[in-house]
Amino acid sequence: MADNVGNKIAKNFSEDVPFMESGNFHVKGASNLDWGMKDRLSRIFNPDTGKTIMLAFDHGYFMGPTSGLERLDLLVPRLEKYVDCLMGTRGAIRSSVSPTYNKPIALRASSGSSILQDDLSHESMVVDIEDAVRMNASAIAIQTFIGADGQKETIEQLNKAVNLGTRYSIPTMGVVAVGKEMERTTQFFLLATRMLAEFGVQIVKTYYCDDFEKVAAACPVPLVVAGGKKIPEKDALTLAYKSIQGGAAGVDMGRNIFQSQYPEEMIQAVVKVVHEGYSDIEAYEYFQHLIN
Ligand code: 5RP
Repeated sequence: MADNVGNKIAKNFSEDVPFMESGNFHVKGASNLDWGMKDRLSRIFNPDTGKTIMLAFDHGYFMGPTSGLERLDLLVPRLEKYVDCLMGTRGAIRSSVSPTYNKPIALRASSGSSILQDDLSHESMVVDIEDAVRMNASAIAIQTFIGADGQKETIEQLNKAVNLGTRYSIPTMGVVAVGKEMERTTQFFLLATRMLAEFGVQIVKTYYCDDFEKVAAACPVPLVVAGGKKIPEKDALTLAYKSIQGGAAGVDMGRNIFQSQYPEEMIQAVVKVVHEGYSDIEAYEYFQHLIN
């Protein structure tokens, strides 16, 4: 029986106290890592702001050609110049993304299910670490399903990725997946993000939730927030703003960029929030200025 009955609930997160200083490296929890890891993390997280904007276009690996991603070769050239990092599969990147962009890659390295199934929680690491090296990946992304059917296998696969990534100094980005039946509670994200960090990932991708400051404070590596399903631009900018205010080190947005009627303008507004300290209101005004 799990030790979850009578366990004292965590509540003292000291959200206002900055994460420990150990060295002058700008990525949380990474001060003691090898030079190669730091180099790759510095390609993802801007050394001036400590933040990142990833463009996620990996949806096809389980959804096929979803709206906005019908033609990656046409979409990515419109957006790459505004973002810090590109997140996609090796097939999409090799076929449709020019290496001349010289952008860091967060390589989607797990898969195993498709939208034809009810249970999407069974994924493995399917990309060899040598192929990630060949692609000059700056991170490998592995989906982990805490609390779902696929928990054990995805935890094992995540740890395998951390082992292999450590061998070659490639950071692992643990992606917190939310199972179909699960609620997006603060308690869940506290648990899942901290578990992934304790497994040794260098970056955690997660969703925004209530009391996000607590989640960020309790996670000793940077949190990057996913955008999720398409919502109005104003709301997506508020999501980005609240995430950054709450302690996120960036966003990894997909549908709220490429499913917007104005993807270039939207990504530029997100840049203002993440790197330039704009509020959501200021960023939305900027967005409207760009589209009018
Ligand atoms: C799914 C992912 C996707 O990259 C991510 O969720 C897509 O971004 P968005 O939700 O903003 O469309 O990691 O596991």
